[in-house]
Amino acid sequence: KNIAIIMGGHSSEYNISIKSGNVVHKFLDAQKYNTYRIVISREKWVYLDASNEEFPVDKADFSIRPNGNKIHFDCVFNAIHGTPGEDGLLQAYFELLGIPHTSCNHYESALTFNKRDLLSTLKPYGVPCATSYYLNKGQAVDEAAIVEKVGLPCFVKANRSGSSYGISKVYQKDELAGAIEMAFKEDSQVIIESFLDGTEVSVGVITYKGEVTVLPITEIVSENDFFDFEAKYMGKSQEITPARISAAQETNVRKLAEFIYRTLGLKGFTRSEFIFIGDVPHLLEVNTTPGLTEESLLPQQASVEGISLETLFDSAIEEALR
Ligand code: DAL
Ligand code: MG
Repeated sequence: KNIAIIMGGHSSEYNISIKSGNVVHKFLDAQKYNTYRIVISREKWVYLDASNEEFPVDKADFSIRPNGNKIHFDCVFNAIHGTPGEDGLLQAYFELLGIPHTSCNHYESALTFNKRDLLSTLKPYGVPCATSYYLNKGQAVDEAAIVEKVGLPCFVKANRSGSSYGISKVYQKDELAGAIEMAFKEDSQVIIESFLDGTEVSVGVITYKGEVTVLPITEIVSENDFFDFEAKYMGKSQEITPARISAAQETNVRKLAEFIYRTLGLKGFTRSEFIFIGDVPHLLEVNTTPGLTEESLLPQQASVEGISLETLFDSAIEEALR
């Protein structure tokens, strides 16, 4: 089978995605599959061969012709974080072309990538989350109303982004404007959330051998003020798997993470973040193309579960083709 491993994307997470894609390329069984690295950026869509020579991708049917013969793909392994790989755009394209892919379907991808829409979809089911305030670009910023609704400190976030790009923790009202401006550099929508003061955990939920499977839970202990980019990727955090949480907390968060996966009809690999207030997990977000770099959490969780990267990545293709 011919497998396209797609990586890159249009967002600030481009470099992280290239790392994720290269890890997938390294560990996806080359005996079992013909694997092709495809880099998708705003400028170009290209196949990269072993010596990093570039060959164009034909967008009409997602094929390549590296040495005269046309190659079609049986499946796409999606390692793009952020748009257009995590927000449903590429999912819709592959679904139109009839090419199976490893991620959630296009609508579920778009819904989960939009923090406001994700949280407001889940709130009526009683899923606890922070209080939030939402802004579109160009809307007047009423700082007093924001502070009245979400309190201080609060988190200002790009509504559709990842890897903590565009996020800041705001302590004082006069820092809001700058933080909002920074978040608008990442996205045309901004979400401002109340600060949840508690232990943060990350929960991988995947479909593995046909079963929805919750992986061992990771506790995040950031050396920085929150789990920002530096904490995530430059070693400024401790990531402890399994998390040092109580039995009640563990039961609650596993149940909630699985409920979200099933209720939204997710597929493939996902990783959700929660903060505990007492025993109650509060949902921060769901990542539907979670990082697969050496520093990333899902590979660590799989390894604690006894699932090697080879087996993990193989299972993604098996599920997509099922
Ligand atoms: N958005 C990053 C890649 C993650 O969720 O791991
Ligand atoms: Mg994220």
